[in-house]
Amino acid sequence: MKSEKIYLKDYESPSYNVESIHLDFNLNEDICTVLAKTNYVAHPGSKAKSNELVLNGGEGLKLTKLLLNGEALSESQYRSEKEALVLLNPPSQFELIVETKLEPQNNTALEGLYKSSGIFCTQCEAQGFRRITYFLDRPDVMTKYSVTIEANKKNYPVLLSNGDRLKVEDLGNGRHKSYWADPHKKPCYLFALVAGDLGVIKDTFKTLSGKKVELEVYAPHGKQERCLHAMDSLKKSMKWDEDTFGLEYDLGTYMVVSIDDFNAGAMENKGLNIFNSRLVLADSQSATDQDFFNIESVVAHEYFHNWTGNRVTLANWFQLSLKEGLTVFRDQEFSADQTDRGVQRINDVDALRARQFAEDAGPNSHPVRPDSCMSVDNFFTMTIYEKGAEVIRMMQTIVGRKGFRKGMDEYFRRHDGQAVTTDDFAAAISEPNGKDFTQFKRWYTQAGTPRVSVTESYNSDKKEYSLVLKQSCPETAGQSKKEPFHIPLMVALLDPQGREMSIKCPEVFVNSDGKKIIELKKTEETYRFQGVDESPVLSILREFSAPIYLDWNANVDHLYFLMEKDTDSFNRREMVQKLSLQVLKSLVSQASNNQPLNVDSRFVNAMGTAILDERMDPGFKECLLTLPIYSIIAQNENVLEALAFEKARETLLTTIAEKFKQGLLNIYLRFNGVDPTSRDSKVFAHRALKNLALSYLSRLKDPEITNLIVRQYQSAENMTDKNHALNLLAHLESTDDRNVYIQSFYDTWKHDNLVMNKWLIAQASSIRTNCLEDVKALCKHPAFNITNPNNVYSLLGAFGGNLIRFHDPRVNAYQFFADKILEIDPVNPQVAARLCSAFNFTSKLNPEMKDRALKEIRRMVANKNLSKNSRELLQTMVTS
Ligand code: ARG
Ligand code: ZN
Repeated sequence: MKSEKIYLKDYESPSYNVESIHLDFNLNEDICTVLAKTNYVAHPGSKAKSNELVLNGGEGLKLTKLLLNGEALSESQYRSEKEALVLLNPPSQFELIVETKLEPQNNTALEGLYKSSGIFCTQCEAQGFRRITYFLDRPDVMTKYSVTIEANKKNYPVLLSNGDRLKVEDLGNGRHKSYWADPHKKPCYLFALVAGDLGVIKDTFKTLSGKKVELEVYAPHGKQERCLHAMDSLKKSMKWDEDTFGLEYDLGTYMVVSIDDFNAGAMENKGLNIFNSRLVLADSQSATDQDFFNIESVVAHEYFHNWTGNRVTLANWFQLSLKEGLTVFRDQEFSADQTDRGVQRINDVDALRARQFAEDAGPNSHPVRPDSCMSVDNFFTMTIYEKGAEVIRMMQTIVGRKGFRKGMDEYFRRHDGQAVTTDDFAAAISEPNGKDFTQFKRWYTQAGTPRVSVTESYNSDKKEYSLVLKQSCPETAGQSKKEPFHIPLMVALLDPQGREMSIKCPEVFVNSDGKKIIELKKTEETYRFQGVDESPVLSILREFSAPIYLDWNANVDHLYFLMEKDTDSFNRREMVQKLSLQVLKSLVSQASNNQPLNVDSRFVNAMGTAILDERMDPGFKECLLTLPIYSIIAQNENVLEALAFEKARETLLTTIAEKFKQGLLNIYLRFNGVDPTSRDSKVFAHRALKNLALSYLSRLKDPEITNLIVRQYQSAENMTDKNHALNLLAHLESTDDRNVYIQSFYDTWKHDNLVMNKWLIAQASSIRTNCLEDVKALCKHPAFNITNPNNVYSLLGAFGGNLIRFHDPRVNAYQFFADKILEIDPVNPQVAARLCSAFNFTSKLNPEMKDRALKEIRRMVANKNLSKNSRELLQTMVTS
């Protein structure tokens, strides 16, 4: 197989600058014409290494005109390649006119210009612009855009692009034309266009310096009231970025458009965000509390990109985490300020572990700043986003919040308007704070999740407590040896009453937020704490101050003590995770050996104490009582045995539910039906807690409980409760009740594609034995459209993530799944590639299951037409 890889080390700065570009779109039902007029100027100083200028473009493009300084180019002046147009010996300064023809209605990859439900829209990140015209499609080429869009007035009354709306002209022949100009330079991946018949809601925002910004959220007619929450979220985000980072919006208009067919969640195009409709549209009848939360955080994320991504952009795609890690960090901080900081941190870490840690332990483990790739689309990973955010968070932990703000100010002072690298960011944060991040930057270059082991001892004569910390990091693709990381570990020593003891240890420093930090830099280090009057209880990795696995064979009494008394709420809950993983490990081993399952009663009772504790904050209690999901359990085991996992986890849940049935019922009855339409985050927490109680109770297979679930389904006044009941009913093995409500939900909501996604998820995530057959049948159901990414992620993505049914040895889900990937791949490679991660656990399977999975992976790789997106991901699974 020839290597189609690109490497960071091959990066060269562009040989030409682009002074400006004018794009003229003529939109039609069959063929659209794009006329691009671009001014190129040879980069001063960069004596062109070759006398060729390679413009990217190709897929789906027909070149119909090419003029250089007004003259048609002869055959000897350019060369057409499959994915490029090469200008031979171009002058050092010239105007190029390129006319291309495209058919957006046939663009199923949903990159470049395409159509969704009759609306023209674009997605140019990462490399979609080259499907629109021939251009230097790379993020370090920033230029000023002006755009005109001409279309039929009746079908496309709304014509949008980036920047300022200059005017709209009626052309008199049933067509109209709108004129746009964006005063800010930008890379082409931030270009956007929308044309369609859309409704809009409008509002305004007054910025810090008193400028008025027009806010517009566009959605299909009749859905406008479902945009109110997104609008609200936008205003909160704008205010938060001013308050927190002093960052103000820089255009007169901010537009958000909701689109039904969208590969990703949303896109931060300058002044014209395009969103997957599931992240814009919401009302309490059709959306869950989680949906409301997601909308707020993604609206914030895209808004925050205006500074971290757009004003300061990327030198090349290997730097993607520069904007994504930082912007995820910013949206997490925003969410923490809207809700509960402790609970937010717990949820963020759960997601990190369930998905990023799994990715980092699998065949496609890669550094936060990768150094090679086949497909740039494959960079949009949990590692780039979520681990990237952790890396930023560690910087903040080291320099403190004030220091971090100083660094951010410096970052914008140095780099506003530039295309830069993660090294530039690290320098801007470290230098004003007098810190050296040379070693710290290994977090960007070395893949894999480090492990830190903890050994403690206490000497009562010397009143000395010592801590030995050792770090290591497993081998990952292409990186057999790792250098030690710079790991910030937040610590405290607790006395028997749970109070923090004062610390005398020269290596522990207090950051500007008053947090005590150990900076582990060597492979092994010993820390001695003096004047420790009694044997302390260690609380380490508080707030999850670094993305690592902690190997700590702590005294079990200490773990229970911390669960009850730790002053760090993250760690209190962390002890439950740690203890439950220990309990589950022994249950898994018993189940694998067909032994009777013996559930640790101390753990069950501790959970009971939490269930019965009426003073505990409901949001925190919900986190505390949530047991690890299968992806986390799998990371804690050597072999993924689906049926043993299932038996272990279900037995643990059932045992707790049996013993504390009344306590769980009390929680349920106390919070059920209270404030059913409130959107207060406290009320969200109450609902989440009582629904968790119902999940526990559902394990009892008790007709009385089934009635309770049915009653919740029938009387629910919001989608959170309805959807939760639907999910529990979907788990039922017996079809009597189950099918009635699956059908009823379908009948009520079949007209609403967003709600239908929940219906697909409920069935694809079911633990019932027949799940695979259900999913197969749903693939043929009218509610499932294989060209709609949300449908695919909801049905097939959810099934691929349903570890105990995907890896169930009694059926062959792998074969079915591979067939589906092969079916989707030619239609939409990005969507197909996302599904490939279902096979990430292959190396953890037992030999028989591994053979089965590898057979399917090899079959996919053998397909000559497989996209490079899917190929890159699958190929490593057979070679690793
Ligand atoms: N930049 C977008 C965001 O994080 C995501 C775009 C995803 N693009 C992709 N090709 N998957 O907000
Ligand atoms: Zn982003």
